[in-house]
Amino acid sequence: MAIERIIDASIHDDDADEKRIEVTLRPKSFDEYIGQDRLKNNLKLAIEASKKRGEPIDHVLLYGPPGLGKTTMATVIANEMGTNIRVTSGPAIERAGDLASILTNLTDGDILFIDEIHRLGRTVEEVLYSAMEDFKLDIMIGKGPAARSVRLDLPKFTVIGATTRTGALSAPLRDRFGLIHRLEFYKPDEITNIIIRAANILGSKIQPGAAQLLSTRARLTPRIANRLLKRVRDYADVNGDGIIDIPTAEAALVLLEIDTLGLDPGDRNLITSIIDNYGDNPVGLNTIAALTGDEATTIEDFYEPYLLQIGFIERTPRGRRVTTKAFKHVGRFKVEAENQQKLV
Ligand SMILES: Nc1ncnc2c1ncn2[C@@H]1O[C@H](COP(=O)(O)OP(=O)(O)O)[C@@H](O)[C@H]1O
Ligand SMILES: [Mg+2]
Repeated sequence: MAIERIIDASIHDDDADEKRIEVTLRPKSFDEYIGQDRLKNNLKLAIEASKKRGEPIDHVLLYGPPGLGKTTMATVIANEMGTNIRVTSGPAIERAGDLASILTNLTDGDILFIDEIHRLGRTVEEVLYSAMEDFKLDIMIGKGPAARSVRLDLPKFTVIGATTRTGALSAPLRDRFGLIHRLEFYKPDEITNIIIRAANILGSKIQPGAAQLLSTRARLTPRIANRLLKRVRDYADVNGDGIIDIPTAEAALVLLEIDTLGLDPGDRNLITSIIDNYGDNPVGLNTIAALTGDEATTIEDFYEPYLLQIGFIERTPRGRRVTTKAFKHVGRFKVEAENQQKLV
């Protein structure tokens, strides 16, 4: 993405500062990890049970929109289990051989974190799920008629997979996960606490009211909350005495063009483009992508989950529809169906 969008919940890979801060702010234990109580309770139980049995925990699949704490939770699980974590990602494991070398280098109890697990290739995926099933690795040695298959024992490891889209995972792979959990958007007061915690770690002074204000603009997403805090802190340092109070936060948000619901010009453009071209008729994902010039997957992963969450878009069998609430928010009026036809 060429323009850095503050509300974009993905990590900006080229931003070293952002990566460094992200690592600093990452909770290390269940106690530090705010919210997602259902997930935490389930994991605590699984961890306690596995410790009692002296076995690694079941494979865990975490899914949900970017920035909600999947990677963080994987590292928390490793800390709570007191095990090593090896981090890789779907696109990084190109061949079955790459996976074989990762697996054979693990030791008992290790956690293998596979980010974007939906992007694993089919053959790699097949090797992975048989390894997850019985901790064996079947590899071919030699070529042609002399080739033979050898079965290697693997250490008892745990896979933690993270994905924004479980739908893209094959059924056999999904079935190998004993624990499958969706991360939910956070509640505003949880986001407030995340902002206050982050401000403390970063050593910046924020008034509770300002934290609360920011929490309503962060799309209920910790990564965006932290990023907003960083920007508002910059603003307070440059334009004031460094203390983040409500007027400072408000002024910074105006500058950043983030509205009362946390939408930025990109979101509002998406909504108004659909309205201006299709009114409240359902439109396909690819059509929306063509309207805004984004990839369909960007729309699906970044814009849509929050717009669905706040009821601005609904999914119908015939595509996505803009709701009355969204019309109001962007200051457009619904046109009667027959007039709409004339407009199109
Ligand atoms: N529950 C949480 N409590 C506090 N901070 C969190 C929490 N979840 C995520 N964060 C913060 O948000 C950032 C992004 O989380 P991350 O785990 O990388 O998201 P994901 O992997 O789902 O995209 C982390 O660096 C962390 O600082
Ligand atoms: Mg992640």
